[in-house]
Amino acid sequence: MIQLDSTLAALLDRLERFAADHDARTADRAERMLNLERPTAELLYLLVVSAKRRRVLEIGTSNAYSTLWLASAMKAIGGEPVVSIERDAAKLDMARANLAEASLQDAVHLLEGDATAACRAQPGPFDCVFFDADRISAPDQLAVLLPKLAPDALLCADNALSHPQEIAGYLAAVDATGEFDSTVAPVGKGLHIAWRRPR
Ligand SMILES: C[S@@+](CC[C@H](N)C(=O)[O-])C[C@H]1O[C@@H](n2cnc3c(N)ncnc32)[C@H](O)[C@@H]1O
Repeated sequence: MIQLDSTLAALLDRLERFAADHDARTADRAERMLNLERPTAELLYLLVVSAKRRRVLEIGTSNAYSTLWLASAMKAIGGEPVVSIERDAAKLDMARANLAEASLQDAVHLLEGDATAACRAQPGPFDCVFFDADRISAPDQLAVLLPKLAPDALLCADNALSHPQEIAGYLAAVDATGEFDSTVAPVGKGLHIAWRRPR
């Protein structure tokens, strides 16, 4: 169990119920929330907090379910505002409202636009990146971000088990650097975790 502020805990519970209902009756995948499953969100939170990752980039905000967890982690360890990228303006409106409800709006810097272009515009450095957008473009984002990563950067990517073919290019790109130790935690849809060996 993770101790959370009561307002945040209630909001997360409500968002979980909302997404389960909304996604089940929404045919267009692009309109679904596609939020992390709760155990995956909890693991991501614990990784970030325990490893004291203070400069976090999230690729794929949706309505900010995972962003709320990351922002809460930043609050717990005194981290920088989470930079979070989303191309869908309607989802960003929901994200803003959800962050405000949890009083976490100052703990997140939301960016609207294409993930790879937004990554290019970011100066970094980042000591943790959570890849959770379209998977296919993740290798491009990794290439852009590599020079902006801390020497001991932590990379996390969801859907390693649910979408093995789509994520294969990203996993191969991480391995091809020769710089990361990695594994897949069989939680939720499969969380790929990669840690850059400090040089
Ligand atoms: C799986 S959802 C993110 C879920 C969110 N991380 C959570 O757990 O609450 C993926 C999101 O990435 C966005 N997205 C997909 N491809 C993108 C791209 N190339 N650039 C920016 N956003 C993208 C989608 O609009 C969608 O909202």
